[in-house]
Amino acid sequence: MNDTSLAVIILAAGKGTRMKSALHKVLHPLGGQPMIHHLMDSLSPLNPERKLVVVGAGKEQVENAIGDQAEIIVQEPQLGTGHAVQVTDEALRDFDGNVLILYGDVPLLSLETMQALIKARQGDNDPAVVVLGLRPSHKNAYGRLIVNEAGELEAIVEEKDATAEEYDIELRNSGIMCVDGRKLHTLLDALDNENAQNEYYLTDIVKIAREKGFICTVAEADETEVMGINSRSELAAAEAIFQNAKRAEFMDAGVSLLDPSTVYFSHDTKISNDVVIGPNVFFGPGVRVERDVNIHAFSHIEGAIVREGASVGPFVRLRPAADVGAGAKIGNFVEVKKSTIEEGAKVSHLSYIGDAIIGAHANIGAGTITCNYDGFNKALTEVGAGAFIGSNTALVAPVKVGAGAIVGAGSVVTKTVTMDALALTRASQKEVTGWAKKFRSKNKK
Ligand code: UD1
Ligand code: CA
Repeated sequence: MNDTSLAVIILAAGKGTRMKSALHKVLHPLGGQPMIHHLMDSLSPLNPERKLVVVGAGKEQVENAIGDQAEIIVQEPQLGTGHAVQVTDEALRDFDGNVLILYGDVPLLSLETMQALIKARQGDNDPAVVVLGLRPSHKNAYGRLIVNEAGELEAIVEEKDATAEEYDIELRNSGIMCVDGRKLHTLLDALDNENAQNEYYLTDIVKIAREKGFICTVAEADETEVMGINSRSELAAAEAIFQNAKRAEFMDAGVSLLDPSTVYFSHDTKISNDVVIGPNVFFGPGVRVERDVNIHAFSHIEGAIVREGASVGPFVRLRPAADVGAGAKIGNFVEVKKSTIEEGAKVSHLSYIGDAIIGAHANIGAGTITCNYDGFNKALTEVGAGAFIGSNTALVAPVKVGAGAIVGAGSVVTKTVTMDALALTRASQKEVTGWAKKFRSKNKK
C-alpha cells in the first residue's frame, strides 16, 4: 500500500423519519454504542487525515456526539446524496488523496472492506471511482450497478429511474465508494438533478467519470456489512448481526457460552478465556471479565470488573463500579453497586451492597443490606478482611466493621465494630414456658 492520504466523508443529513424518534437516527445504539461511533471506531486504524460528517436535521445532537472527532459540515437543505458530498467541496478543495464516502446509518462496515476499497482505488488501472456493491438476498430498492464486459462500472441507475432490463440486475449499490480526490471536484461540478426524484444523485458521478474517459470499478461486500438502518426493525436486525458476530468472536477466543443466542454483549465488553457464561446473561457497557470466571444464568452486568476465578450469579446485578475480586462469590439475587469485593469474599444470597468495601474473605450473610443513602447523600460501608456479617443485617453507612469481627444476625449496625469483636444489636430473646399451648386451648371452640 502506498502512503496516499485519506479523507472520509460520513453522510448523516437525512431526516431518518422512519425511526419515528426524537433521537437522530445515527445516534441509536448498537451493542450499547451510537451507530456512528461504531463507524468512527472501525475506520480509525486507517488514520484518515480528514474526517467530515455531513449533518442536516438534528445537527446539534450529532455535533454533540461527535465532539472533536470529526469536522461537521451542514447540508441545508438536503438536495440528495450528490449534494451532500458537494457541500464538503470547499473543505476538501486542496485535498488530493483518496476520498472514502460512508453513511452514518451503515455502521457495520468492516475495516477490511474499507481497506479493500482503498486498495482497489489505488490499483494499476487508476479508477476515478470504486463503488462497493452487494448482491442482496431480498427484494430491495438499491441502485443497480451497470457493469460492462470488461468488468468496469458504466453507471448506477436508481430503481425509480431503471428500465425493465436494468431493474433485474442483481449487483446493487451500497452507496459506499472511494473516489480519487484529484477528480472528485470536477465530477461533482457536473451533477444535475434531472431524474425521478429531482435530487442530485452521488451515483451519477460514475456516468460523468466515464464521459470524461476515466475508469470506474466495483468492489463487493456481504450484504450484512452494508445494510442500512432506516427503521426500528432494521436496527433490531443489525443488532442481531452485531450480537452474533460478538458471540462467535468470544467463543473463538476461548469463552464458553452455554446458549449463545441468549447472551448479549456491548461494543466494549472484554472477556478472557476459560470464562463460562450461562444462559440469559446481559453485558451493558464497560465490563471486563478475567479468566476462569463463571457467570451463571440471568445476570445483568454493567460497568463492572469481575476478576480471575470469581463466581457471579445466577440472578446477579452488577452495576457501575462494582469490582468483584479474584475468587470472590456473588450469589443469587445480589445487587452490587460502586463497591469493591476483595479477594475470596462471599456475598451469597439476597443482598444489596452499595458504596462499600468488603475485605478479603469476609462473609456477608443472606439478606445483608448496606444502607448507603439517607435521601440526600451516599455514604461508605467498610467491612474488614475476614469479618462475618450475620444474616439480615443492616449496615447503616457511614460505618466500619473491623477485620475478623462478627455481627450477629438481624443487627442494625450504626457504630464502628472493632476488630475481632462481636456486635449484636437485636433485643435478647424471651421465653414463656407453655404459653403457646394455653393460647391455643383458650381459643379452641
Ligand atoms: C442511495 C443510493 C442508492 C443506494 C442506496 C443504498 C443515491 C442517489 N442512491 O439511495 O443507489 O442503493 O443509497 O442505501 O445515492 N443523505 C444526506 N443528504 C441528502 C440525502 C441523503 O446526507 O441530501 C444521506 C442520508 O442521511 C442517508 C444516505 O445519504 O444516510 C442515503 O440517502 P437516501 O436518501 O436514503 O438514499 P437512497 O435513496 O437509499
Ligand atoms: Ca432518497
